[in-house]
Amino acid sequence: MRSLIIPGFLALIASSALADVVYNVVGFPDTEKGAFGVVINNKLTPLTTTDATFPLWSANVVGANPSSGYRYVKLDDAGTIIDKEKFLRRITTVKAKSTPNEFYQRQNTFTTFPAVPQIYPDVLPSKSKAFDDTQIATIHLTADPVILADMLANPLDEERKAIKAGFRFINADTVYSAAEVKLKVSGHGSRKFKKLSLKVKFNEDKGETFFNRPVIKLRSESSEPTFIREKLYFDSLNAIGVVTTQGAWVRVYVNKKPFGFHLLVEDMDTPFLRNTIHKGNAEPAELGSLYQMGSHVIGQEGTLIYNGSLTANYNPDVYSNKNLGANTKDEPIAQFAAFMKDLAEYDPTLPGGLKFWNTRLNVDQFLKAMVMEYLGGAWDGSWWKGNNFLMYFNPTEARWQFIPTDFDSTFSDGNLADVAVPYKQFAASRLRRKGKDHPLITKLIYKNKEINKEFEKILKNTVQKVFNNAVLDPRIAAYEKFIEAEAAWDFSIDRSKNPGKDPKFTISTFHNSLTGPVTGISYGVKPWINYRATDVPKQIK
Ligand SMILES: *[C@@H]1O[C@H](CO)[C@@H](O)[C@H](O)[C@H]1NC(C)=O
Repeated sequence: MRSLIIPGFLALIASSALADVVYNVVGFPDTEKGAFGVVINNKLTPLTTTDATFPLWSANVVGANPSSGYRYVKLDDAGTIIDKEKFLRRITTVKAKSTPNEFYQRQNTFTTFPAVPQIYPDVLPSKSKAFDDTQIATIHLTADPVILADMLANPLDEERKAIKAGFRFINADTVYSAAEVKLKVSGHGSRKFKKLSLKVKFNEDKGETFFNRPVIKLRSESSEPTFIREKLYFDSLNAIGVVTTQGAWVRVYVNKKPFGFHLLVEDMDTPFLRNTIHKGNAEPAELGSLYQMGSHVIGQEGTLIYNGSLTANYNPDVYSNKNLGANTKDEPIAQFAAFMKDLAEYDPTLPGGLKFWNTRLNVDQFLKAMVMEYLGGAWDGSWWKGNNFLMYFNPTEARWQFIPTDFDSTFSDGNLADVAVPYKQFAASRLRRKGKDHPLITKLIYKNKEINKEFEKILKNTVQKVFNNAVLDPRIAAYEKFIEAEAAWDFSIDRSKNPGKDPKFTISTFHNSLTGPVTGISYGVKPWINYRATDVPKQIK
């Protein structure tokens, strides 16, 4: 910019009136040679992209007036405007030399949410940039179309090897690219849907760690029309200080085509142990053993019932070892079997239950996770289903740590008759099923008086201060507004050629499942919270 010698206040006006501004928009053109542009005061400036930045389109507009409103437009192959944004944008700070990376037709790049109070100590490391949930990032995956199509056409093949893909993550201030990641279909139950979850593994050896979260999942939330249940469950776990993954909503495109609106979370693997549980510390030098329990084999559950000391005594599809820790390769379950043996031999009527278990298990983390399973009506979780949890032998604490995971089937998103009961009934019903008792629940929470008292204390406190409509409804309302257009976009994607189920959600289902029942989901999120929040105090004397 030319500098002029003029009196002070005039110089100020001049500097705000004339500047070079870089405009940045994320978007996918309709045609191969299509593009985007920015229109300022009726003047069109085409934006350009590169292989290193696509789908981010940018241009430096020389001598732009930062206080002028602007709109992004979509251009056809010939550079003619075929679509323009419905609203006028403005740069909010006059000094800005560039706009954030804005998303085409999304008016608000950033948002803020009403806070959920932190009622127990926050046990998480500072949030990774991957989980900035105040904005919606765009992920673009690129893969060989034939290999990709074959993987997506056969989602039930859980043994299928990961395929190679290019990865790009763009949010308002970040473009993160990895030339080659490993891409897989992820999950178990979610594989039966037309919309799939994906797992992305970065090449840590090349230093590609994706903000210290090198194994991520893009969860489809296929059976969850609001997309909000899992996020709200994270919020609640965070508020009561339970270690779990964080989550942020993202838009996913694959080979320039819409793929879906997903929840980006971290996979519970060794990087999670290192970066989240141990907060990125070098200690312990060796991570402990990690097991994931799953009940996706029909009729079997991760009950934690002792069945002998040998690995062969446990179905590896139900008890899967994810990190060896102090075990031998031949007997990966040895250490965990010893824990189950202690549990089997434990007499819950004896005094000193809390002390006894605290030397073996982080009881506090376990009870808080169970409080949320009960409050959240997590019928697909550990308490009810022996599913969706991990046990980690934390070497720093020299005891086991319970880690909950996968919360899409919560807030009554399941068989209501199962979960809409007092917690003691919920616990006792596990005892009655022959061979399917859940002793960690029935012995500790249900039968041991001392631990039960602790459980009730946390349950009551959580209902009073976090899990109630006064606290959570404003947050839900902000989420609803923030992602409404994203949900509509997701529901509009044509997945008819994919195998699997289509729950046929619409934007009405999205809104209605927050406030009441919809087909297949018996309770709305808000009435469910109301039910539990008013019922729990009646259960505790
Ligand atoms: C217990 O171990 C035996 C083998 O010793 C096996 O046949 C049985 O299926 C196991 N039970 C469970 C519930 O894993």
